[in-house]
Order: sequence, then C-alpha cells, then structure tokens
Amino acid sequence: MNKFRLAGISGSLRQGSSNTAILRTLQASLPPEVEMTLLPLEGIPLYNQDLDGPNPPEAVREFKAAVESSDGVVMCSPEYNFGMPGVLKNAIDWASRPAFASPLKGKPVLVMTCSPAFTGGVRAQAQLRETLGGALSRVISRPQVVIAGVNAKIEGGRLTDPASLSFALEAVNDLLAEIGLLRAARTPAMQPAEG
Ligand code: FNR
Repeated sequence: MNKFRLAGISGSLRQGSSNTAILRTLQASLPPEVEMTLLPLEGIPLYNQDLDGPNPPEAVREFKAAVESSDGVVMCSPEYNFGMPGVLKNAIDWASRPAFASPLKGKPVLVMTCSPAFTGGVRAQAQLRETLGGALSRVISRPQVVIAGVNAKIEGGRLTDPASLSFALEAVNDLLAEIGLLRAARTPAMQPAEG
C-alpha cells in the first residue's frame, strides 16, 4: 500500500506552542501507513521577490521541496490580532511561487486553528483559507477544526482533550480521503481490450 506523507506546519515558533503540541499529538496518533513530518519555519527569511527564483535562500528551498514532495499539508495556527501570524503568511508566500506552478498549487491542505479564547482562532482560519485559495491549494472543505479554550486541553506538550483530538483526527481522515481521490484521478482509466 502507498504510504501517505504529510507535512505539518505550525503557525507558532514558540517552544511551548499549543499549535505545535496539537500537530505532535496528531503525528503520534496516526496509523503506520501515514507519516507526518513537521516543517520548521524558524530559518525562513522574510519574503523578498529579489531573492525568489530558481536559487532561493537554502531554508526556503528546503521548505518548498518538503511541501512539494508531501501528499498533503496540515497547518495548525494561532490567531494574532484577528489574523494569521506573519511567520505563517510569510512561509505561504514563499511556497506560493512561481504562481500557477508552485508547491502549494493543487496541494491538499487541512487547516486547523486553536486559541486560549472561546473563538478558537476562527478569524485566522478564515484568513488562512482565503490566502490558500490565492495559492490555488486544495483546501479541505469540512466542518472547521477550531479548538477553543486550548490552554485547558494541552498537558505535557500533548492535546489531551479526547473530543478535540478525535475531531482533529477525523479531519486528517478527510485529508487522506482527498489525497486518495487525487491518486485515483491520476491513475489512467482502464480500457476494454480490443477485439
Ligand atoms: C495573541 N493571541 C490571540 N488570541 C486570539 O484568539 N485572538 C487574537 O487576535 C490574538 N492575538 C494575539 C496577538 C499576539 C501578538 C499574540 C502573541 C497572541 C493569543 C494567542 O492565541 C496565544 O498566545 C496562543 O497560545 C498562541 O499560540 P501558541 O504559541 O500556543 O501555538
């Protein structure tokens, strides 16, 4: 059976990040045929079109190659001032080029947000979905994973709230289903034998 290779991207650089903890918990809960690699955003410089092209900065090259070679992406992000954090927008901007042929074009992307607030980062999620639309990604359309009151749901660097975890895992299943559909669509249809 073909493995599923997912890339996890946290919108927070913070060491004790809830978003990174959620991704790590998902990573540890996936079945053996699914692997998820977390892509660090730390070393990615601010987007500069002068540096963009066939030989971008090394961290950007690595990031784009990892997105490109993945079957799908899981983004988990906080909300900063009612929007997505700059680090995440910056990384998306790099990965969105070249336009119409970028690593994000047609890529299945599952979006999740969380927040200590009861709004769960839903405004950042709306923004993220719109931006990924601009990058022509295949954003997974499903009931949104918005984890509110997250501080009470993380313990020891893991998402411990069973309802949130099972909802997030259902969303990952939807991402895998989308990847499966894309794989099937790429398989040439069988033709009846002649004669
Ligand atoms: C926040 N936070 C926040 N939360 C929210 O629900 N809506 C918001 O608009 C903001 N704005 C905001 C701005 C800035 C600059 C910071 C640093 C924080 C709180 C944020 O959700 C909280 O710090 C999360 O814990 C950040 O996610 P990580 O780092 O735990 O993954």
